Amino acid sequence: MTEVPNPAQMKQDPTAGLDGVVAATTRLSAVDGQKGALILRGRKIEDLAGKVPFEQAISHLWQDVEPVDVHTLKISLGEARIAAFSLVPLLESAADTLSVFERMQLGLSALQPVKDVPEAVSIVGALSVFLAASHRISTGQRTLAPDSTLSTAADILRMLGGETPVSAHADALDRYLVTILDHGLNASTFTARVIGSTQASMKQAVLGAMGALSGPLHGGAPGPVLDMIDAIGEPGNAESWIRQALARKERLMGFGHRIYRTRDPRADVLKDGLRKLSRDNPKVQLAENIEMAALAALKTAKPDRPLETNVEFYTAVLLDAIGIDRSLFTPLFATGRAAGWCAHVIEQQDTGKLIRPASHYAGPMPD
Ligand code: ACO
Repeated sequence: MTEVPNPAQMKQDPTAGLDGVVAATTRLSAVDGQKGALILRGRKIEDLAGKVPFEQAISHLWQDVEPVDVHTLKISLGEARIAAFSLVPLLESAADTLSVFERMQLGLSALQPVKDVPEAVSIVGALSVFLAASHRISTGQRTLAPDSTLSTAADILRMLGGETPVSAHADALDRYLVTILDHGLNASTFTARVIGSTQASMKQAVLGAMGALSGPLHGGAPGPVLDMIDAIGEPGNAESWIRQALARKERLMGFGHRIYRTRDPRADVLKDGLRKLSRDNPKVQLAENIEMAALAALKTAKPDRPLETNVEFYTAVLLDAIGIDRSLFTPLFATGRAAGWCAHVIEQQDTGKLIRPASHYAGPMPD
């Protein structure tokens, strides 16, 4: 009789995580895990994030799939936000038990086409409204209508906090949104492409991608990063706290990556943004100390596995420094990444090809 592998043996299966499998050809982004490089349609992430606004980065990324100049895109995103605000009563009527992320998915499910606005634009614009409105609903505050004249980043902060943000905060959020715009065939983007390949609607693909992003191994790490920083409390505690966590076989959130074997370039882009924002914030200094202690401890604990800082570590610290609640970290990630997901859906649908890989059967055979 054939031997049926147990779960531990299944984990060792080299096909389990599709490592190294090329599942798409894309003009959108490339990740070089050995060199620690991220290229968005021909430009390094360091030359975009903190250098061009989110809208310009989208226009750059979309040039082969949804060409739109930055001026038109800004106007259309504003229109999309205004249109999406009409769905806020639906979000208000939903059960209290829904998280911000789930309320955003609810709004997205109900989203209808906006005249003369491409679906991808309407999704990106709508998510920023659903995020802010859902947060205000869940914290018992009156929701605020969008201001279509503002940039996406500034309007998100205004719809969240009620006031036009200081430019340093809007710039920091803008830098974050560009940093996370697209990143090769990560789990959520792959999900979006699989759903898109069935010729399902773009919003269904984005809903599925959001589901993939919600897990702690993908987009759900920055909240726990901040929990870890809070639990450590002061630089002197970092080493022993981290040693004990690793002894309990816990993972340090914000470290390690499936592709990068060196530093995630997005971590440095965000760290730079943080330094520009505030040099003397004690939490920033604490985070830098924790990062050093974590990297040293991971080197000792896993000498054969290069585990470096990933994007989520400084995401948490940067978003916290501009006053964004930790419950909004994953929703914000989805809002920025949606522009990348939509581009991948269009690219996949243009091939006209259904994604349908094969599996290796390791179960018992009938007698
Ligand atoms: N802390 C401690 N140990 C770790 C960490 C970590 N952050 N990351 C990996 N390891 C260890 C694992 O325990 C495992 O050890 P073992 O072989 O002794 O069991 C080994 O390194 C390999 O781990 P895998 O899960 O097989 O490696 P993979 O490349 O699939 O992991 C992942 C990538 C999921 C991101 C992982 O590094 C992790 O869990 N990090 C923490 C969560 C996190 O920061 N997620 C955000 C990622 S960035 C993003 O998605 C936007």
